[in-house]
Amino acid sequence: MKSFLIIFASFSLAFNIHAAEKSFGPEDMPGLFKSGDASIGSSLVASCAACHGQDGNSINTDWPKLAGQNEKYLYEQLKYFRSGERNNALMMTVTPYLQSLSDEDLLNIAAFYSSGISTGGQAKNDEELLELGTKLYRFGDIKKEIPACTSCHSVYGEGNNLAVYPSVSGQQVGYLVSSLKAYRSKERAGGEQALVMQSVAENLSDKEIDALANYMHGLYK
Ligand code: HEC
Ligand code: HEC
Repeated sequence: MKSFLIIFASFSLAFNIHAAEKSFGPEDMPGLFKSGDASIGSSLVASCAACHGQDGNSINTDWPKLAGQNEKYLYEQLKYFRSGERNNALMMTVTPYLQSLSDEDLLNIAAFYSSGISTGGQAKNDEELLELGTKLYRFGDIKKEIPACTSCHSVYGEGNNLAVYPSVSGQQVGYLVSSLKAYRSKERAGGEQALVMQSVAENLSDKEIDALANYMHGLYK
């Protein structure tokens, strides 16, 4: 039995290496995430454009850009809005519509926005704010138990699609500030991933949140 396990383990290792060489993505493996169809998605978002823009780039600082966001993250969030686990007054206006859509529809919407290109942003050139934002984003603050944001959202803020860590680069400042405050107050919920951010944001001060938002807004992939 033991040797069978060892043989099995080395076989699967060999298979993994082989798979990597052929650059198989997770979409080629059953049971893992499969991308949606962006062109079908584009036909389902007429009611979203007023706030998120035709191409997923919102023009209001308080409304998130969706263009170029990680697909799986968008898909998960849409499911949380549909079920009401994640709540927001403006998004509630489309809850009935989301409830009329299937998982596949939501995945196609996620694929559509994810295929867009973020218009990016520019950090405010305030030396003190930039210094604090850069330091916290890159290194965190051990004394305050704030982890480095780079470890999950990456140096340039693109996040990690497989781990479902969202992109934060070029995101709207108002939205970044309100999101971090909503995690801090535990208002923003939806699945276990939100709990991760609730604990990350727990000890952030308003000033640190402003500095981080300014920094992330200016990051580009
Ligand atoms: C009236 C304005 C409005 C409309 C219409 C609207 N949204 Fe939103 N949307 C928002 C706001 C504001 C947020 C931020 C919510 C929050 O702070 O939790 C948001 C958040 C989101 C998010 C999460 C973004 C993130 O980074 O976590 C997704 C995904 C989303 N909307 C998709 C849609 C889709 C799809 C539609 C159309 C069916 C839609 N929205 C229609 C205002 C709107
Ligand atoms: C351990 C991994 C991890 C670390 C460290 C981390 N994050 Fe996150 N972050 C996540 C995950 C996972 C989510 C998605 C949570 C959800 O589903 O609500 C997220 C979501 C966010 C969002 C919301 C994005 C959106 O579009 O709504 C912001 C803003 C954010 N993180 C900022 C930060 C900042 C700033 C730091 C550093 C102080 C940080 N994160 C550290 C994993 C992490």
